[in-house]
Amino acid sequence: MSEALLSVRGLAVAYGPIAALHGIDLEVAEGEVVCLVGANGAGKTTTLRTLSGLVRPRAGSIRFAGRDIAGLAPHRIARLGLAQAPEGRQVFAEMSVADNLRLGGWRTSEAELRRRMDEVLALFPRLAERLNQRAGLMSGGEQQMVAMGRALMAHPRLILLDEPSMGLSPVMVDLVFDLIARLKAEGRTILLVEQNARLALEIADRAYVLESGRIRLSGPAARVAEDPGVTAAYLGGG
Ligand SMILES: Nc1ncnc2c1ncn2[C@@H]1O[C@H](COP(=O)(O)OP(=O)(O)O)[C@@H](O)[C@H]1O
Ligand SMILES: [Mg+2]
Repeated sequence: MSEALLSVRGLAVAYGPIAALHGIDLEVAEGEVVCLVGANGAGKTTTLRTLSGLVRPRAGSIRFAGRDIAGLAPHRIARLGLAQAPEGRQVFAEMSVADNLRLGGWRTSEAELRRRMDEVLALFPRLAERLNQRAGLMSGGEQQMVAMGRALMAHPRLILLDEPSMGLSPVMVDLVFDLIARLKAEGRTILLVEQNARLALEIADRAYVLESGRIRLSGPAARVAEDPGVTAAYLGGG
């Protein structure tokens, strides 16, 4: 079998004396949607931030696109084709929607930037109508689209989405998951972190359940969704 696009082995992370990840293994193959579910504080964001180079691992290996990336600077990892839409969106509030998107395509020619912008706007028509608006004035759901669009502007091989549905109204949650479904249909490779385990498990091919910095369970998403422990803890009972 060929090597997965992302392959994580024994990844350990600590914040000072406090261990956040105790040696996790995780894989994402090209074209897969993989979700990482777990309670608040389980270590989901830490996992994504370590993959994108924002947090340094204490131990373990991270292979991405055939390279060892553990400990590489974030911009070097981004250049290899890994893009993250961070928790809480983190759009540049004072900048226009268009400029936020353009930031995601840094290092690209103007012509290519425009091509990518057209692609992203085809996916998010709501943003096309609001290109000159200050991003900070958009609704939470629209800001999530900006964050996802910014990540897509890099033409990444792997997209990391950190709690895209967090804090959104039910209508916007549905919209964001529709967008993830469309990205999946296009064959994009996605690692999705969600507290909304029900929706995440519906959309994902495979799933990992993270508890207190350890992978407790993994497998096809449909099977993970049927696990009694997962049902009780994350899917609101039996
Ligand atoms: N910058 C930080 N400094 C110290 N501790 C942190 C930091 N970020 C996260 N933690 C701790 O690491 C653990 C995992 O947090 P996090 O990865 O944010 O979990 P999740 O995204 O699953 O809610 C928590 O105990 C959290 O308090
Ligand atoms: Mg988090």
